[in-house]
Amino acid sequence: MEPKAKNRFVDYLNIDDHTVDRVIFSGDELYKTEQKKIFARGWNFMCHESQIPKPGDFFLNYIGEESVIATRDRTGKLQVFLNSCRHRGNAVCRAEMGNARAFLCTYHGWTYGLDGKLTGVPGFRELYQEKINRDEWGLIPAGKVQSYRGFVFATMDPEAPDLEEYLGDVGRTGLNFIASQGDMVVVEGVQKNRLECNWKIVVDNTFDWYHAQISHASAFMSGAFPRSLPDDTANELLHPFGSKQQRVLFGDYGHAISGPRLTDAVWDGLQRIAARDESIVPSPVMNSLLWRLDPRAGEELGEIGTRSLGHPHIFPNLFVSTITNQVALRLPKGPNETELWWFTFVNKDWPDEVKAGAISLATRVFGPAGMLEQDDGENWEMSTSGTRGLIAREYPLNYQMDAETTNLTVPEVGAPYIDTLVNEHAQLWTYRAWADWMSAESWEELKQNHATPQDVFKSA
Ligand code: FES
Ligand SMILES: [Fe+2]
Repeated sequence: MEPKAKNRFVDYLNIDDHTVDRVIFSGDELYKTEQKKIFARGWNFMCHESQIPKPGDFFLNYIGEESVIATRDRTGKLQVFLNSCRHRGNAVCRAEMGNARAFLCTYHGWTYGLDGKLTGVPGFRELYQEKINRDEWGLIPAGKVQSYRGFVFATMDPEAPDLEEYLGDVGRTGLNFIASQGDMVVVEGVQKNRLECNWKIVVDNTFDWYHAQISHASAFMSGAFPRSLPDDTANELLHPFGSKQQRVLFGDYGHAISGPRLTDAVWDGLQRIAARDESIVPSPVMNSLLWRLDPRAGEELGEIGTRSLGHPHIFPNLFVSTITNQVALRLPKGPNETELWWFTFVNKDWPDEVKAGAISLATRVFGPAGMLEQDDGENWEMSTSGTRGLIAREYPLNYQMDAETTNLTVPEVGAPYIDTLVNEHAQLWTYRAWADWMSAESWEELKQNHATPQDVFKSA
């Protein structure tokens, strides 16, 4: 096998010592490189197909900092374009979502079809003498647009692997948590808010099962959350230090699932709950646990999925919140600013009161009104600020928790994983992947040179 190419971004991490250079969270030049090498090259979540079911439906989103339109053309095909007119660059779409017959630029009136073609140029005959080649001046299309079980993604790089291959086992399992629950649709409206923090600090927190009992102590004391979890599950989630109930799954290119797994005791408890009462009206949380008993869930998620309460993350910036049935995008808005977008899913067939309960839970936990996210947001902003100081930057951040583990298992089928204590392995995996993405000049190079879990973690 060819030796892996030199990766100069790995110098920001000290893998052996489990530390990470603070500059990666606020360096201007690094941020610009991320835009090109991570966001333009990677698969970015655009929307769910239920948000754009009909031709002409559109949803505005971003690839990195660049505004893009996700739409369906007249043939029903999914399309993604840069939201920027080819004449002077003005936005051709200003509404966040809706239905359009065409995209009319409000500056001078160039008009583009739903397939991105330039169809109208005011003064085409008189001012341009019909010389402008309209075929060459359509909207700039994404390199690839694909959907996995209703989740629409786009990449600007036509050389990117297909979406299913990119997601791999771990990314697909993350999305299957939601897709497998039936006819899932996005609740109208996406909750959006901005925080003065770096996007990677937010990703880091996705895998952080260390902070909950400190950061969220008052939120849990408030009694705002329904106590529908069995007590031992709740204890393991909130006070998990003593038990080895955590599982980290590693996917290619930086995807991971990390967090508690359902022990045999909790699994048996769920089966007893389900068996005792056929007519359980599912509370949102119980539903997200009980549907795992369904044989179809087993077929789609496997043992790893049905038993996992971990947080799936699809690199670079999509978090799947399995308990609240949400996905969250963390959109970079500069090295020190991130916009968070929360998409909430419900099953079309759930009774109205169950849908309302799901929406209420999601709103109280995450998003701008979410009690947990308000706690988290404070930490993320202050942590980012703590990476800006030139003196502070001399000192790396510590990721040494559970560093001595030698527990990596590489199964013949399925993703490599570590069963262990609360840990910081998924964070280190994310930064290692970040270095690979930043270092590679092309998809070919990234495919060839990205690290494997065996390069980073020790096996027994
Ligand atoms: S900028 Fe769009 S028509 Fe001139
Ligand atoms: Fe939190």
